[in-house]
Amino acid sequence: MMGKTFVRLGVNIDHVATLRQVRKAVEPEPVAAAVAAEMAGADQITVHLREDRRHIQNRDVRLIREVVRTALNLEMAATAEMQEIALALRPDAVCIVPERREEITTEGGLNLVDASPSLGEMVATLKDADIHVTAFLDPDLRQINEAARFRFDAVEMHTGAYANAPRGRRDAELKKLKEAAEAIRHLGMRVHAGHGLDYHNISPLLTVPDLEEVNIGHSIMARAIMVGMDRAVRDMLHLLGRV
Ligand code: PXP
Repeated sequence: MMGKTFVRLGVNIDHVATLRQVRKAVEPEPVAAAVAAEMAGADQITVHLREDRRHIQNRDVRLIREVVRTALNLEMAATAEMQEIALALRPDAVCIVPERREEITTEGGLNLVDASPSLGEMVATLKDADIHVTAFLDPDLRQINEAARFRFDAVEMHTGAYANAPRGRRDAELKKLKEAAEAIRHLGMRVHAGHGLDYHNISPLLTVPDLEEVNIGHSIMARAIMVGMDRAVRDMLHLLGRV
């Protein structure tokens, strides 16, 4: 692990809303989860407002926007409806993600090679509203070049292939992330990472150059069920070399 790494931790609390929606109940409350994660030291709260509203609801993002004291990162599809919500909500950051209704979670990065030029207008409009705009991409140099062309501020590298790789493939996947990170930085964008990151695979990821932010949901929420949010967030911060 490199000595001076400072990687921000964004905690994705979608699963808290998922648990509530399973019963169409009022608890657990994602707003309380956001506050607890922040009190444990999270640098950012991340939520994905999906078009089908399967977990996070409009009222959640409104209330979370009000209570969050660190930063709010809104993951969303590149649709007119979501742009309107983002402009009204004013999150600190927006991460544009692909969305398919039948997927269990976001399965791959955006395909910017075939994206419509209107995406560039959306990026510009969000940036004009002082929102930091990130593209969620596979560690693929063609996609990264397109992200620079669309003038994204940052690229969140999809770490699913790395996280799911069998032991023998993990180093090769890590190498791809390192090369992608170098290209992202070289093109003047910031380097973020997320998807499938957990307490076992996070340490090698810290060797990725210029990594500034990770967004982690499933593993932290899974641990929080067992040991509480405070401990789960602090354990991850510890592995990030932060506490
Ligand atoms: N980053 C992005 C863009 C995502 O779509 C997700 C999943 O919602 C995550 C990070 C968090 O992934 P995980 O829940 O596997 O930690």
